[in-house]
Amino acid sequence: MGVSFSLGEGSTPLVRAARVGGEVFLKCEGSNPTGSFKDRGMVRAVAGGVESGARAVCCASTGNTAASAAAYAARAGLDAIVLTPAGAASGAKLAQARACGARVVEIRGSFDDALRLVRELGAVDGFALVNSLNPLRIEGQKSVVVELLDQLQSEPEVIALPYGGGGNVRAVAAAVAEAGVATHIVVGQAAERKTTWASAIRIGEPAHRANVEALVAEGRVEVVTLSDDELRRAWERLGREEGIFCEPASAAGLAALAYARPARNAVCILTGHGLKDTTAVAAGDAEPVEASLDAVLEAAAA
Ligand code: F0G
Repeated sequence: MGVSFSLGEGSTPLVRAARVGGEVFLKCEGSNPTGSFKDRGMVRAVAGGVESGARAVCCASTGNTAASAAAYAARAGLDAIVLTPAGAASGAKLAQARACGARVVEIRGSFDDALRLVRELGAVDGFALVNSLNPLRIEGQKSVVVELLDQLQSEPEVIALPYGGGGNVRAVAAAVAEAGVATHIVVGQAAERKTTWASAIRIGEPAHRANVEALVAEGRVEVVTLSDDELRRAWERLGREEGIFCEPASAAGLAALAYARPARNAVCILTGHGLKDTTAVAAGDAEPVEASLDAVLEAAAA
């Protein structure tokens, strides 16, 4: 029997929101093996790399693709080379990638520079590109829609998600079309694409922009542009009102709903776990207090 590449990706929880919005469901993709939705497509892309005889997979990444590629490459016995913009990807994500044996190369440049370079690297013999330019990634990521339709047992009027490079928008739109449902897709992008607080979607030039624009022209996708304040407020509500800790970029779908045409119900795809990027969200550290009940009561009331 060959190697099973699966690490148990998919089958993530669909949780009905208790307080945010009307009938809103939260698809918690942070529950995937490496903590983001990337695993759904990466398992397929890495298997494809093995089939094509590659000895290494390569990707450009703001962190999550890197962590996922590293894990599945380790599983498949391939090397993984990841290019990240220096100082921009979260430390936790790079730690994940390194822990799984990936070679992490930080580039003095942006994600867009890293993607340009990795396209060249992917053309070198022995390397397989596992960014979402690889069609197997898109193919695998479609499973989130099949799953949520099954969990909901009805058609949601809207599916909302973040728009970074646009690979996941493509995957969701393709899956919606294949399922034959009339679900409208609402995607949230950062107004300050190159510098946004949500480091996962710090992407100046979306690789799938033309495709997303075509989906918009067909009336199947609506793009909402969000300030960092709006992203932060949506992220905060998910934690404080729903008890769901996702990473900053993941809140873009929920934030976008506020500006989209009104819907009876919606599913927000929360793309990554909050533990992925704690430095972005760590609230001011409080001073330690005396080990006494009085001091604890005083601190609790503050
Ligand atoms: N949410 C998270 C948590 C992400 O990591 C990403 C992309 C997106 C949303 C946007 O998805 O690019 O398909 O539109 N992260 C990539 C990475 C860029 O390298 O991990 P998209």
